[in-house]
Amino acid sequence: MSLLRQPLLLLSRSEAVKKVVSTMPVSAGIVQGYVPGETTESAVDATARLQDDGLKVTLDFLGEDTTDAAQAQATVTAYVDMLSALSARGLAHGAEVSVKLSAVGQALPDGGHAIALENARTICRAARNAGTTVTLDMEDHTTTDSTLEILRELRQDFPETGAVLQAYLHRTEADCRQLAHEGSRVRLCKGAYAEPEEVAFQDKLDVDKSYVRCLKVLMAGQGYPMIATHDPRMVEIASSLASRQGRAPGTYEFQMLYGIRPEEQRRLAAAGETVRVYVPYGTEWYGYLMRRLAERPQNLSFFVKSLISKK
Ligand code: FDA
Repeated sequence: MSLLRQPLLLLSRSEAVKKVVSTMPVSAGIVQGYVPGETTESAVDATARLQDDGLKVTLDFLGEDTTDAAQAQATVTAYVDMLSALSARGLAHGAEVSVKLSAVGQALPDGGHAIALENARTICRAARNAGTTVTLDMEDHTTTDSTLEILRELRQDFPETGAVLQAYLHRTEADCRQLAHEGSRVRLCKGAYAEPEEVAFQDKLDVDKSYVRCLKVLMAGQGYPMIATHDPRMVEIASSLASRQGRAPGTYEFQMLYGIRPEEQRRLAAAGETVRVYVPYGTEWYGYLMRRLAERPQNLSFFVKSLISKK
């Protein structure tokens, strides 16, 4: 793993650095490359553009680690408003939503798990009314059990709810086996947080090997795998596993982040694959941006330049 990855991930949770960096206007080049805007309208417009290009979308109202119940409630309202805006523009069929449970109350000191469950339920209901679904993002390893428990509870009423599993965790291959059943939508990613070696592979090669083992389980299972990676090797391996398993396009999908390898997103879609783009929006872009920089420290010099030139 890159030498810069851990320090950048630590900074992603620093309130002091967040204050400085967040004074950058969202128009600063580096932020704009990863986030289409701060408003519902900017997110819905980006969705329309992507759908015109034959891509599907999952929308994320940015925010995480909320320790304020009112803020958690405001996030729920933002999702409900966004879903009705998507529906009004006829875009909901090709656009689902991604929800971080820590943004809707999971991190609250009293009863966070129950509050997050109720708030997620409200978003699932709004998604179903709009004709679409929710996928629960996965955050750091201290939240994995709570998130999978909330997933189980939500699926009793909303079986279409999807989950994310992170290949860097030792436990994930077993979690894939648990979730590879019919009707189960599972997004497999490598994992984006700073995790200790007791729970997570540290070496990039070990993470990649785990990703392939997890892919094999999901592609051989009865569920709907969502292959979330920009890694050309993983995309290639997923494609060959799909043909080996006799999976037709549409029985699985590729997913990539907004602004990352956009030409590859369009190439895969033109080749007949289902491709979904993860579109984050809102003012709370700091943690998200720092995780993207940790993955690709080459972008750091550009980032520092845009900080220095800020007004
Ligand atoms: P990796 O980082 O190894 O990169 C492979 C190649 O992709 C690079 O060599 C480069 O060519 C390109 N690339 C990667 N990052 C780039 C960048 N920032 N700019 C330009 N090129 C880049 N994580 C998590 O912990 N919980 C979650 O819920 C999610 N959700 C999620 C949804 C979706 C749709 C995606 C695509 C990813 C996530 N992630 C996530 C993030 C994920 O865990 C991971 O951190 C990133 O996807 C980067 O890993 P890659 O698989 O792309 O490979």
